[in-house]
Amino acid sequence: MAARDAIDLGFAPTYGAGLGYRKELIEEFAQRRQELDVVEILADQWLGDPGYHGLRGVAHEFPTVVHGVGMSVAGAGRISGDYLAELRRITEICAAPFYSEHLAMTHVPGMDSGHLCPPVISEESLRTCIRNVDQAQDALGVPLALENITYSFSLGGDHLAAASFFTELVTATGCLILLDVCNLYINSRNHSFDPLGYLDALPVDRVVQVHLAGGVVASTGQYIDSHSESIGDGIWQLAAETAKRCRPSAVIVERDQNFPDMDALVKEVATSRDIYFPEGC
Ligand SMILES: [Fe+2]
Repeated sequence: MAARDAIDLGFAPTYGAGLGYRKELIEEFAQRRQELDVVEILADQWLGDPGYHGLRGVAHEFPTVVHGVGMSVAGAGRISGDYLAELRRITEICAAPFYSEHLAMTHVPGMDSGHLCPPVISEESLRTCIRNVDQAQDALGVPLALENITYSFSLGGDHLAAASFFTELVTATGCLILLDVCNLYINSRNHSFDPLGYLDALPVDRVVQVHLAGGVVASTGQYIDSHSESIGDGIWQLAAETAKRCRPSAVIVERDQNFPDMDALVKEVATSRDIYFPEGC
């Protein structure tokens, strides 16, 4: 298969560090404008919003990057053209230079999994992912950045096979990477591998964005990316290692439940900024 030319990452500005925008915290975000370099909106939460007035307000107030959960890049079916057209509209409203999504399957024709499933590691699955990423990038009009997800079991091969799959997909499509440091940390703990070995197997020069979050440990001993806790020391240490290897455009702290006061979240943003942008944004 012919590889597409890699996209020069110089197209994306250096935004800096910020938070995942959550509608529950609209007032708090408005008050913290000066402490957030960028916010990340969840495109799927804004689908069908008449006129996108709320979204336009966010994009007016903050530099904004766009993230999604419903594309199912690793699913067997083709992506809905109507869905991609609306994502393009949302991306244009936010003036986002790329669109991020998970390297995952969330649905196949006729069935919705309800959560993010890892791709099957096979040649056939790789061809399907390449087809879907090509379709998405053509329809969106901006590059796609794919995020590494957590998985409780692997659909073929080990973590290096997964890294090799990811690398082949990035090389074939020229797409970008959203490196979720929390997800990498959790996978490395749950499946007993060296996260830096995984990173070494990835084209880290394609990392355009980073996610950081805190998780929990279940009674089974399994680490879970709950996005409900403050970011732990192990994740901060891994973040510092990744910062030696890649130059992201944006670093986003994700928090989806058990919201603390904004001081705690803004402090995590400031720590992220110090790690990834020590010379300023
Ligand atoms: Fe993430």
